[in-house]
Amino acid sequence: MTNIIQWNCRGLKINLIQLTLLVQSFLPIAFCLQETRLKESDNVSLKGYNMYSTFSKVDERAAGGSSIFVKDNVIHSTVQLTTDLQAVAIRLSLDKTITLCSIYIPPSSIIDKAKLKNLTDQLPSPFILMGDFNAHNPLWGSKTHNAKGKIIEDFVSQEGLCIFNDGSNTYLHPGNGSYSSIDITICDPSLLQDYSWRVHDDLCGSDHFPIVPEHLFTSAQQRVPRWKLDKADWPLFENLCQAELQSKMFETVRDPILTFNTVLTSIADRTIPKTSANPKHPSKPWFDDACDQAIGDRKKSERRFNQQPTTENLSNFHIFRAKARRTCRQARRTSWKNLSRGLHLALR
Ligand SMILES: *[C@@H]1O[C@H](CO)[C@@H](O)[C@H](O)[C@H]1NC(C)=O
Ligand SMILES: *[C@@H]1O[C@H](CO)[C@@H](O)[C@H](O)[C@H]1NC(C)=O
Ligand SMILES: *[C@@H]1O[C@H](CO)[C@@H](O)[C@H](O)[C@H]1NC(C)=O
Repeated sequence: MTNIIQWNCRGLKINLIQLTLLVQSFLPIAFCLQETRLKESDNVSLKGYNMYSTFSKVDERAAGGSSIFVKDNVIHSTVQLTTDLQAVAIRLSLDKTITLCSIYIPPSSIIDKAKLKNLTDQLPSPFILMGDFNAHNPLWGSKTHNAKGKIIEDFVSQEGLCIFNDGSNTYLHPGNGSYSSIDITICDPSLLQDYSWRVHDDLCGSDHFPIVPEHLFTSAQQRVPRWKLDKADWPLFENLCQAELQSKMFETVRDPILTFNTVLTSIADRTIPKTSANPKHPSKPWFDDACDQAIGDRKKSERRFNQQPTTENLSNFHIFRAKARRTCRQARRTSWKNLSRGLHLALR
């Protein structure tokens, strides 16, 4: 599987642990994040990924901003953008070379089509533009329209672009608990058939759901399975070869080498086991029962709020969300402490 994750994470530092859990679940080749709220001096990193960011401030405090993380085994390069939009773009070599652009448009800011076109003209084609546009339009699942929603709709139709959204909600308003859809995935028409699109079922500590475009055909990370020669059933292999690979079979076929290869591979498939094609999920040794419980509680409180959207249930959800963050952070810290104590003892 080749996943990309688009997510308004509402503060990268506070939700960095959630990112490692998303790596665990989806093994994404890239994250396109919004509202990272990073300062240039912040030293944030995610193991196995390269990070590219644009920074933004409101009243001298880090606010908004977007980042892209790219898995370090994927060939990629940055796309230099000249724009005052909070956007960052990377070109990736997958089966096709595509451009990913992560963008954050704050609720208060004004956008116009010319500015968006100025941005997309700088993105080498084909591109996927992912972001929180704070734009409402029933076209992608909001119940209402706003000015930004109308502008995005016009822009997308004038430029002949496509929208992946299937109408699912992407955002839970933290104040009144109403759901809406303001995170949009826009792409070049040539990519529309290449990806599926879904919203993850967990807010993961943000008030936006991670969105997972999954590449449908190829897999940059898929490992080539290897024969486990030491586990082969060699007597059976020999018998099958004698029975199925007879020289007279090849006298009449058009392509004897191809036939030989096909028959031999089919015999090997039946007699020699293979290693898995799926990459191993990275381990997270710090993730303990307490984290599992705390995240379970957070999900439960969100479900309860969905069934009964009362103020009390919303504030409970906020409490369990804070608790889950605290518990995971604590578990990771303790695990590092134990590890370093263990190393220390071992080296004595
Ligand atoms: C950033 O963090 C890395 C790893 O934790 C560390 O090696 C590096 O020195 C830090 N850089 C700064 C500028 O703090
Ligand atoms: C795009 O916008 C940037 C900055 O906002 C500006 O410097 C640049 O000239 C614009 N490019 C075009 C082609 O209009
Ligand atoms: C919740 O608040 C937002 C922002 O103030 C508003 O747009 C939305 O209509 C509200 N939803 C409900 C159900 O009150």
